[in-house]
Amino acid sequence: MNGAFKAVQLTDTVYWVGAVDWNIRNFHGYATDRGTTYNAFLVMADTITLIDTVKEPFIDEMMSRIASVIEPSKIDCIVSNHSEMDHSGSLPTVIEAVKPGAVFASAMGQKALEAHFHTADLVTEIADGGEIDLGNMTITCYETRMLHWPDSMVSYLHEEKILFSQDAFGMHLALHELFDDSYPLWLLEHEAAKYYANILMPFSHLVLKALERITGLGIEIDLIAPDHGPVWRKNIEWILGRYGAWARREPKNKAVIFYDTMWGSTDLMARSIADGLREGGTEVAVLKLGSAHRSDIATELLDASAVIVGSPTINNQIFPTVADALTYIKGLKPKGLVGMAFGSYGWSGESVKHLEATLGEMKIDLAGEGIRVKYVPTAGDLAACRARGIELAARISRK
Ligand code: FEO
Repeated sequence: MNGAFKAVQLTDTVYWVGAVDWNIRNFHGYATDRGTTYNAFLVMADTITLIDTVKEPFIDEMMSRIASVIEPSKIDCIVSNHSEMDHSGSLPTVIEAVKPGAVFASAMGQKALEAHFHTADLVTEIADGGEIDLGNMTITCYETRMLHWPDSMVSYLHEEKILFSQDAFGMHLALHELFDDSYPLWLLEHEAAKYYANILMPFSHLVLKALERITGLGIEIDLIAPDHGPVWRKNIEWILGRYGAWARREPKNKAVIFYDTMWGSTDLMARSIADGLREGGTEVAVLKLGSAHRSDIATELLDASAVIVGSPTINNQIFPTVADALTYIKGLKPKGLVGMAFGSYGWSGESVKHLEATLGEMKIDLAGEGIRVKYVPTAGDLAACRARGIELAARISRK
């Protein structure tokens, strides 16, 4: 495939040699409507170094980009910042092809890579704060455990002032241009927020510590080069600020309603509650499963004050689509939310009870008893839904 793909030069000595995945729409359960990129970077130091690799099916694209700069066998060193397969899937094949003098990963990275590829001595452990001497350049590695895997670390290339940040500060976006300033800020904010909500939200307390550590290092950062999406050069302070705000949780006067419906009754209830919230002055996002994706619900919750979940009862249970979304959201551990449940039923009507039990396990503060409607809501039922929306808006605005 040599000659098919070209590297993109970032600085005098650093090239992007990653791959663009235009067509992926499901990234382990996260809807990637705009595709993604697997970023890898080639550092043309005395010791030629590859930072991360790409998802296995894209190895030829990466090798072709590398070959546009240098014969790949001249790579002396590989740094694996993160062991997840979208960055490590091609690592064993690259090692086999290139035969580098050294491959570095964190202590947990070494264990994770060995457990993935069942090969001992695949990589050498680099300590937290450890330096890699590239002759005329130096890389320092800093562990960022659980951001978002135990093995995660970031690497700082001193001479070019580049922070290679693996998943952190990334987004799922198939790139046509490499730098952040080629994209509108609303798009960067939407995709970075979606990435944060779906990947990093459960670890927000560690994000704050990592931000504190990075800013406390006193290093100058000209570029932040994540493993997905654009390289930050113009909006570095902005993205650091957004991460701080998301990690601290600074909710707006906003409620998220997500639900599904069998014959339209739970849908009518959702729309009436939404109308009440709007009347009460609260911004509201209404997401019906089947039309909305669980990862979009997570994104909307990032800056919300309330979550309202609706499900009809089916065979004494909640609707499967609602169970799916609720399980996913529960795992993301959203904090500080007020909640409420609602749903229609035919005879036994357990869905609201089940929803409230899960919301309780999520430590969501329930705003009164859930709303249940038998079969089809009357005008009075819908007025009651609307009134509960108004009440909830008042409660949120007092928070
Ligand atoms: Fe992009 Fe956690 O892998």
